[in-house]
Parts: sequence; C-alpha cells; structure tokens
Amino acid sequence: MIYLDNSATSYPKPPEVFEAYKKAIKYYHSNPGRGGYDNALLTAEKIFEVREKTAVFFGEKQCENVCFTANCTQAINTVIKGILKEGDHVVISDLEHNAVLRPLEKLRLQSKITYDTFTSDFYDEKKTIESFLGCLNDHTKLVFCTHASNVLGVSLPLQKIGKICKERRIIFAVDAAQSGGILLMDKQAFHIDYLCLAAHKGLFAPMGLGVLIGNGSKLETLVEGGTGSQSANAVQPDFMPDRLESGTANVSGIIALGAGIDFIDRTGRENIHKSEKDIILHIYDSFCHCSEINCYVNYEQLAQFSPVLSFNIADVPGEIVAQKLAQQGICVRAGLHCAPLAHRKIGTDACGTVRISPSFFTTEKEINCAISCIKKLI
Ligand code: ALA
Repeated sequence: MIYLDNSATSYPKPPEVFEAYKKAIKYYHSNPGRGGYDNALLTAEKIFEVREKTAVFFGEKQCENVCFTANCTQAINTVIKGILKEGDHVVISDLEHNAVLRPLEKLRLQSKITYDTFTSDFYDEKKTIESFLGCLNDHTKLVFCTHASNVLGVSLPLQKIGKICKERRIIFAVDAAQSGGILLMDKQAFHIDYLCLAAHKGLFAPMGLGVLIGNGSKLETLVEGGTGSQSANAVQPDFMPDRLESGTANVSGIIALGAGIDFIDRTGRENIHKSEKDIILHIYDSFCHCSEINCYVNYEQLAQFSPVLSFNIADVPGEIVAQKLAQQGICVRAGLHCAPLAHRKIGTDACGTVRISPSFFTTEKEINCAISCIKKLI
C-alpha cells in the first residue's frame, strides 16, 4: 500500500505515538478530574502536561485556553455558534471547508446572520487583502479563515488578516486542520482569537480528537454536562477549559497528541514541512510537463503551502482515477473533499479532483511509483 491521503488523516503515526497510545490505555486508565485516587490524579496530570505542551507549541500563553474537543469540526462549531448573535455579519475565505461553511449557512438560512466570502489570490497577497477589506462592514463580528486549503494546500496571509481584525476589534478565528504541525502557527503573532485544530493530521494523534485554543472570553456553550468541577451547581462552569469540556475526555488520544507534538519538536517542524514540500514540488515537476494532467496551482510560485496537490487527468472524473489507483494499492482521495468553495474557485465543482497528500514518512520510491502509475493511466 502507498498511502497518500494524509490530509484525510495521517498514516503512519510516529512509533512513539503508537507506544504512548498503548501505554495510555494500560497505565492512565482512570477518569481525570473525577477521582482523588492516585491513578485519576496521575491521568489528570498527564492531560495537563499535554494541554501545556499544546499551548506552548501554538504560541498560547494561558494553557487553560486549550480545550480538547471531539474533532476540528466541533471546535469550529463551538466558535461559530458560541459567538454569533442575531444581526451579526461574518467574513470567510473562498477556500473554506464545509466545517465552516455549513454552520454559517444554517444560521443564514434561519435569517440570523449574513456572511460574505472574499476571493483569495494564490500569488498576490495584496489582491487577497483588498478583497478581504471589501467584505468587511460595520456589523462584521467574526472572520473565519482556513490556514491552508485541504484541496490545494495554498495558504492565506493570516498575519495580515489577523492584524486588520485586531485593529477593527473583529474576532478572528482560524481553521488550521490542514496546517497544524506543518506550517508555522503562532496564535499571538497572528492575532488569532480562536484556533481550531485536528489532532489526527499533522499532529499525528489518532482520529477523534480536536483542539480549540480560545482567547479566554466566555463562549456560549454548545454542550453542557459533567466537568468534574462545581458539581453542585446546575449551571455550566464559566471558567476554561471546563466550560467547553463536558463529558469524559479522549484520554489516550490526548496522551498520543502529546507524543505527536514531542515528535514534531524533536524532528523540527521546518524539517517536516521541507520534506513534504519537496515531495509536492517533485510531483508538480513531473506533472507540469504532461499536457493531459491539469494541476490547478503553480507550486513553484508559492512561498509556502501545505503538502496537498490536486490534479485531474483530462476530463476523466477524479473518482475514476482514484479507483484505478486504489486497484494498484495507491490511496488518494477524490471528489470535492468536503470543500465545495475551493472546487468552485478552480472550476472543478462538477468533476472534483484527485488529491495527493504525502507525509514526512512518504518515501521517494513510493512517490515515484505513484507518479509512474498515474502516467500509465494516461
Ligand atoms: N477534511 C479532511 C479531508 O480533507 C477529512 O480529507
């Protein structure tokens, strides 16, 4: 098997993540915050350690602002539904995933909010910012942007957008599902109020875990329940992280996330990014000389991007190409990748694309084999 679907979830995980996960089930087996006995305290301590590590990794000073969620989608929904009130206006990019688009569309259809979409220019930041500025109005309460597109890998000028939001007192939220652990992300430097992450992609944790790093303000809750704190009070605690962490946590997943972050720190985030970037440039280089293959981005012209490349072979539907590759043991994702806006932008909303997403563990031999299989399909 040649696994090239790391944007859906990363595989393989570093050996230490696997070991940490196994160890967690065996040795950290009690419910943190729910008992005063040794193992419950030990488990709680371990969770706290990972909370601190995650805060440091993403440039957040207050580790209690780090909340563990079921996935990135839940983190995004928590922000959108926890902030927006009737009459609010939101601005998003034209690369957003359905995790951002659908909750907003639901609120819009209920006539509660309005939203506008700015046009990103992959090669000209100035044009992106101009379009972004054109979407802001006096009612804009929230700006929600992806850090990197899960279809194309291209990234948005978050630091500039964040600065504008800060100056205009607009809440700035970022979907970093695709970039967390790969691209540089410093929540303070980028002026981000809410950072949403998928733990199972670039951070190497197992599936079923997301992270929401807030700014300390009290969000309206989506879910209320047991937190192990203030149990006599029928009202949900108003302090973080308990306010947004009801119910039993994914303890083994969180501990594995800690091991994933340790792996990235030890290996060097830049080294991981460079090796993945080199693979994309190599694929792009092999494809751009092939007239039957359409690539939608010139990766050579981008300063930074996440390791994702979408392509099509002439007008063959992406699903058919992916199916043929699957028959040869090559795992890629085809279709719309839950991101119809990005596909509309590049004109592939009818046919989708085939998406290749390698990881730090992808070998040159695997990539060359995949490239040659794709060329043979032509
Ligand atoms: N959002 C994930 C993807 O891009 C699942 O495949």
